[in-house]
Amino acid sequence: KRLILIGPPGSGKGTQSPMIKDEYCLCHLATGDMLRAAVAAKTPLGIKAKEAMDKGELVSDDLVVGIIDEAMKKPSCQKGFILDGFPRTVGQAQKLDEMLEKQGVKIDKVLDFAIDDGILEERITGRWIHPASGRTYHTKFAPPKVPGVDDVTGEPLIQRKDDTAAVLRSRLDTFHKQTEPVIDYYSKKGIVAKLHAEKSPKEVTDEVHKVLS
Ligand code: AP5
Ligand code: ZN
Ligand code: ZN
Repeated sequence: KRLILIGPPGSGKGTQSPMIKDEYCLCHLATGDMLRAAVAAKTPLGIKAKEAMDKGELVSDDLVVGIIDEAMKKPSCQKGFILDGFPRTVGQAQKLDEMLEKQGVKIDKVLDFAIDDGILEERITGRWIHPASGRTYHTKFAPPKVPGVDDVTGEPLIQRKDDTAAVLRSRLDTFHKQTEPVIDYYSKKGIVAKLHAEKSPKEVTDEVHKVLS
């Protein structure tokens, strides 16, 4: 399947992605993860992206469209993919449509991780990640077996630089202004499925199964 995950910071996109990837498409493309890797490696792309990311603003459409265009060429992404965190502006959505049209394929579903802003600060400030795999934990909702350590590799977990209450406010503002219009864009095509993202991870997984079956 060809899927798009849209939702505010902390709504659970990254948490549900491994299951969706395993069961429906094998290819998970998260622009945030790719940009963070570029920042960590100090590549030219990372150097350009860092300032906007630290402030909770969006990186330019050209940069992210370029990353996605390149990543979608991977063999594992030919039969289907999850786009996590892309498109985030109507401009990016239009570019994506052009790219898909050339390949003669279409998006099957847009999963809208709908949730009130009020719940997100606790989710974001308690998050710990394993950068190499993208595995996500939460001190209260999904604690690792050993605090600060990845369950699978035993490697240390880190917190994201933009996961502070102050930067979260800016990320939410960016979401409402620039990304919510993308949901309307796909609603007009009749492919949006709204999830109750405030529910438990397991309940959200069940909703995803219902929508995609
Ligand atoms: P990105 O990495 O995409 O961040 P985001 O959209 O802010 O989303 P998050 O990763 O914070 O949230 P999530 O929904 O994945 O939450 P998670 O599942 O981890 O983007 C970062 C930055 O990169 C942007 O600000 C921008 O600068 C740039 N960027 C990226 N893409 C771009 C684009 N297309 N264009 C321009 N710029 C771009 O869950 C969060 C926590 O909650 C975890 O600890 C988890 O364990 C817990 N949790 C999850 N689900 C539940 C649940 N149901 N109940 C309780 N706890 C839960
Ligand atoms: Zn994420
Ligand atoms: Zn809004």
